[in-house]
Amino acid sequence: MLELKGLNAHYGKLHVLHGLDLSVPEGQRLGIFGHNGAGKTTLLRACLGDLETCDGHVAYRGNPIKVSEVHHNVGFGMAFVPQGNNVFRDLQVQQNLAIAGLKHDASARKKAFDEVYGLFPLLAERSEQIAGSLSGGQQQMLALGMALMTQPSILLLDEPTIGLAPVIVRDVLASISEINRTRGTTVIIVEQNVQATLKNVDRAVVIKSGRIIYDGASEDLLKQESLWELF
Ligand SMILES: Nc1ncnc2c1ncn2[C@@H]1O[C@H](COP(=O)(O)OP(=O)(O)OP(=O)(O)O)[C@@H](O)[C@H]1O
Ligand SMILES: [Mg+2]
Repeated sequence: MLELKGLNAHYGKLHVLHGLDLSVPEGQRLGIFGHNGAGKTTLLRACLGDLETCDGHVAYRGNPIKVSEVHHNVGFGMAFVPQGNNVFRDLQVQQNLAIAGLKHDASARKKAFDEVYGLFPLLAERSEQIAGSLSGGQQQMLALGMALMTQPSILLLDEPTIGLAPVIVRDVLASISEINRTRGTTVIIVEQNVQATLKNVDRAVVIKSGRIIYDGASEDLLKQESLWELF
């Protein structure tokens, strides 16, 4: 369980998150939506303890998340794929994955490699390709693969389908659901591709100006004709 209680976040005088409460149970796929600047990335950063100025309570699996101690916090099993530019472009695919799996010993790393290559056979085929020469969708796969190399229990994804063609968007979202189904990984995904994402998550949260204005089953939101009024 990831738990946020009374979360406030500021950048200088700008008050971005206003007393957010959110509990995410193990194994859930949660989609977070909202207009540009609503506070979605800030929320993910707060989950990791990657903000200097926030207050409230954040805990993962009972472990308090300490502010400004990302390195310590990810040790609880969290992996974060940031918005864009998230691979080492000058290194090969396999080197990117190896770096991401550095905290493991050789046998655990081999297991993680097998799992990532099983899920994304294209990365196995392209293991020696320089990451910067992969297509946008392939780089997204690699970024997900790198996150999985840490064998996380929760994945925090910030707009993993940004800039991708609709058919590739579907592939990336399907891969994320597959990770959830086969590994039981909890997934929190921030997305602008609302319709496509709603079909791949269990629950949806909509944030507006740093406050939660909708929290419910994704299928209910999908059916709601006034869906677009929320944005
Ligand atoms: N490092 C920062 N310093 C100052 N202001 C910031 C910083 N990061 C974000 N902000 C501001 O905080 C607000 C929320 O930003 P945030 O990145 O969380 O939005 P978002 O919902 O992720 O938007 P988008 O959909 O465009 O990615 C915005 O007004 C933004 O300008
Ligand atoms: Mg953002």
